[in-house]
Parts: sequence; C-alpha cells; structure tokens
Amino acid sequence: MKEIELNLTNSVLQGPLEVPGDKSISHRSVMFGALAEGKTTIRHFLKGADCLSTIDIFRKLGVEIEETEDEIIVHGNGWDGLKEPVEILDAGNSGTTTRLLLGILAGRPFHSVLIGDESIAKRPMDRVVVPLKNMGAQISGREDGRFTPLAVKGTTLTATHYELPMASAQVKSAIIFAGLQAEGETVITEPLPTRDHTEKMIEQFGGEMTRRGNEIIVKGGQVFNGTDIYVPGDISSAAFFLVAGAIAPNSEIILKNVGLNPTRTGIIDVMKNMGANMEVLSEDSKGEEVGTVIIRSSELQGIEIGGDLIPRLIDEIPIIALLATQASGKTIIKDAEELKLKETNRIDAVVNELTKLGAKVEATDDGMIIHGNQSLTGGRVTSYGDHRIGMMLAVASLIASGPVAIENIEAIAVSYPQFFEDLTSLIQ
Ligand code: S3P
Repeated sequence: MKEIELNLTNSVLQGPLEVPGDKSISHRSVMFGALAEGKTTIRHFLKGADCLSTIDIFRKLGVEIEETEDEIIVHGNGWDGLKEPVEILDAGNSGTTTRLLLGILAGRPFHSVLIGDESIAKRPMDRVVVPLKNMGAQISGREDGRFTPLAVKGTTLTATHYELPMASAQVKSAIIFAGLQAEGETVITEPLPTRDHTEKMIEQFGGEMTRRGNEIIVKGGQVFNGTDIYVPGDISSAAFFLVAGAIAPNSEIILKNVGLNPTRTGIIDVMKNMGANMEVLSEDSKGEEVGTVIIRSSELQGIEIGGDLIPRLIDEIPIIALLATQASGKTIIKDAEELKLKETNRIDAVVNELTKLGAKVEATDDGMIIHGNQSLTGGRVTSYGDHRIGMMLAVASLIASGPVAIENIEAIAVSYPQFFEDLTSLIQ
C-alpha cells in the first residue's frame, strides 16, 4: 500500500483547471456504445480504474473498443453483439459497473460470472438482484445473491412497475437496462430524483423514454445508434477543488468544463448557502449541461443538509464535512444513511479521520454533525481504500498545521488518476 506525506500548510491555490471526465457518464457511454449499432466516439472519457474496468468487461463480452490518447471508440453490434464471456468479469472497485451490468446481463442469452474487489464484496447487490428477479432474471450468488461473486443466466425478461425503496441511480439504471430488453413498458418510481445520466443517454443514442413526475417509463425492444459523446468534467472531482479554493487563503480557482447536470449540483447549492465566494457560468451545450465555476477564499457559515439535496450531493459529503470544519457554527448532515454502503462506510471514515486531525465531528444514524471554526493539525490518516476519502484528506492537509500522512492513496486512481499533479499545478 502506498502512502504520501503532504506538507501543504497555508498553500495559496491559483489558476485554471479542467478536471477529468465524469465517472457516471463515462461508464454509461461505454455501455450504450457497446449496445448500440455502429461506432461511438467518446471524448474526455475518464481513464480512471473504475471506467477502465467497464471497458475491460465489455471487451470480454466481445465488443471491440479502441483506446487512443484522447478518444475511446466503441464498435457496437447491437444487443446481440454481446457474447458469452470465456473469462470471469471483474468490476474491480466499481459499484456502478457491477449494478448496471447486472441489468444488462440479466436479459442476454448467456451465462456470466461477475466479481469485484474486497470493497465490492461487502456492498449490497440484493437491491438490484431482487427487482431483476421479479422481472424473471436468473441470478445466483453468495448469500442468496446478496453479494458477489454473482452468476447470471440471461433469460427473457418481463416488464415491471418498480417503486425504488431508496434513492439510487445505480438501481434505477439497472432496472432501466433490464426494462429496455423486456417486452412491454417498465415503469420505475423514484422516492427522490437521482442522477439522470442513463435517461439522457437513451435519448442521445436515439432511443426513447418518458418522465412523468417521479416516474421513468421505458419500452423494451429499443435499438440504439452509435453516436459522439463528450463527457463533461466530473463535478464530484471538481468538488475537491471547490472546497480547496474556498478554505485555502488568498486563492482563486477557475474550473472549466464542469458538468452542471441539475441532479448533480447539490454541492454548488450548499456552498452558496454557506456563503462561498463562487460564480457559476453556464454554457450552451447539447446533452449534459456544462459550465465554468470560479471559487475564491470564502467566509462560511454552517447549515443543515438533508432531504432531496442528499442524492444531488451524495458523493460530495466527505469533502463537504471538511468544508464545514472551517465554517462558523454547526453543520448537520441528515438523511444520508446510504453513505454507510459506499466504497467504505463514509460516515465512520469521515468521522474517524477528521477526528485524528483535530476536528470535532460526531457520527449520527443518518449522517453527522460537524462543529465549525476548527483548526486542524497534522497526523497519520487512511483512505480506507476509498478514493473520495483519500482526496478529502489531501485537501485537509492545506489547512492542517503540520504534515498529513495518508495511507492507501492508490485508491484515488479509481476516479482521479492525476489528482496530485492537478493539486500541485495550482499551488503558488
Ligand atoms: C452512481 C450513483 C450513486 C453514486 C455513485 C455513482 C451512478 O450511487 O454514489 O458514485 O453512476 O449511478 P447510488 O446509486 O448507490 O446512490
């Protein structure tokens, strides 16, 4: 396991930056490209470990995928272009790959086996397996299909009307992929809106879907056509620099080409509500929204974060917790029990590691309470093998009074392989 010692106390951050492509959109662009007929060219694809796992799996499923310096080219042959794999499909650390793939494989007429790393082996897959089985899927696995390894025997699926018990774009998307292969109309009801990249991509690839209030309706038997996709910068990666720019002294960071899909911009709403010195400049775009976000050193106040904001910033909660240590007053994060089921238990990880750096943070059943105006100290911390915890701790080192040693930093390559180079490029 690699570790790094960061000595960045009182660094000033200045300059422009373009963060890597969006992880959620990168995964989906390869999936739809593989299922479509003809060529799909993807620009600004995230070459992080998770999305590379998705590419590797689709190659094992018989899809030709070329990788050049700045493009991924997928040669799709339609749904029937996927073939029974000879090898086990390994999703690595990627929950999105595992869950969305189950929805695709459930309806393909062949056998496949899906595994992932130690973290994936602990994450609940029954949230996808149970509704897929209700559509006729034949999936078996450890603890009755609750965990990987999972085996899928593809079969004919029937359309469903499924009410999601939790706000999860991964579960929603898995059922959409199954519904696209089922006869008839599948209707999915969401308790709260979650990221809608799958729905947008259906349209970008020439398919159809309908939104009716909190329902998403897809018809089976759709044929997709290959297309050109530009992946905007990942707002979940930009979030680390939004917080870094707000808490570091005399700083100004200009983040270009950031994805501004409204289902993902909770971090911007929260930072504005906390008083951040931030400007958002939206640009004209086809498909996913993009723009420039400028952040400057800010005076912040604590707030309460919960309800329908949570799915719009679920992956940003670790870095928001760090931000809240620098605000005046208390910040309460609630309705976020899903954090316990991420790459690691992110409530425990944030509370344990920020406490080691001298912060006052308390875990609650569904979130945490962060006390503001905290001076952080140096110390030895761990990422728990979770990319977002690792990056949050690296940003914490900017305001820690001493060096911060972070264990297990290789996890950061899951979503942001060049994170340290980008951070260093901004330091004056
Ligand atoms: C994702 C959905 C979210 C998010 C994850 C990516 C996606 O997970 O946390 O990083 O691409 O659909 P859930 O659907 O489990 O909330």
